[in-house]
Amino acid sequence: MRPAGGWDPNPPLQTARLRLEPQRAGHAGAMQAVLADPRVHAFLPSSPPDVEALRERFARLESRRSPDGREGWLNWVVFPRLDGPALGTVQATVRPVAAEADLAYVFAPHAWGQGYGTEAVGALLSFLAGRWGVREAVAQVDTRNHASIRLLTRLGFRQTGFTPHADTFRGEGSDEFTFRLLLAAPRADGQAFR
Ligand SMILES: CC(C)(COP(=O)(O)OP(=O)(O)OC[C@H]1O[C@@H](n2cnc3c(N)ncnc32)[C@H](O)[C@@H]1OP(=O)(O)O)[C@@H](O)C(=O)NCCC(=O)NCCS
Repeated sequence: MRPAGGWDPNPPLQTARLRLEPQRAGHAGAMQAVLADPRVHAFLPSSPPDVEALRERFARLESRRSPDGREGWLNWVVFPRLDGPALGTVQATVRPVAAEADLAYVFAPHAWGQGYGTEAVGALLSFLAGRWGVREAVAQVDTRNHASIRLLTRLGFRQTGFTPHADTFRGEGSDEFTFRLLLAAPRADGQAFR
């Protein structure tokens, strides 16, 4: 589903402090380090992954699209802009026909609370609005995940739904909020968002 015109659906992105590299199989080791801490998975059904499994998954995801070609599956690994180990990942599942994208993001505990998550997801939203024509971003969040709820609220998302018992992991039920954000059409100055 590479969009017409030959443009890159998952290009490198940059913010004031961060470099977002298109995720590749070669990032498996860097992301295994991020995902090794169980705190990262407290409100997610995942657990610390094996590096080989991660490498295989990342290799498959290099297609940047779903097997049926209807969705863009976009993934970036986030690094400090100048130098340093991986801080986390931001991801978008884009449905171009609906002009909608589901977001996901995970950062390493050592990077929490410094605004990196908000900064990286903000850059992702600008890119999705400007290059993919996304008009609505959606995120599903465990109701106990206060950091993620704060991140979304800071970016202007509004809670639009509540799903009790949306999932069960590690023996506990997970209730979820749905958060949505309408994205403006790109402005003439190229600033699509904020
Ligand atoms: C959610 C997450 C990405 C936030 O990343 P981050 O880089 O710490 O985000 P920011 O620094 O931009 O902070 C966003 C808000 O969360 C708050 N926050 C950060 N860590 C927090 C924590 N452990 N507990 C409560 N609030 C926290 C920040 O203070 C900020 O709120 P503020 O605007 O009131 O100051 C990060 O906590 C994470 O990776 N968690 C594990 C994976 C996860 O749950 N992903 C989201 C799934 S929906």
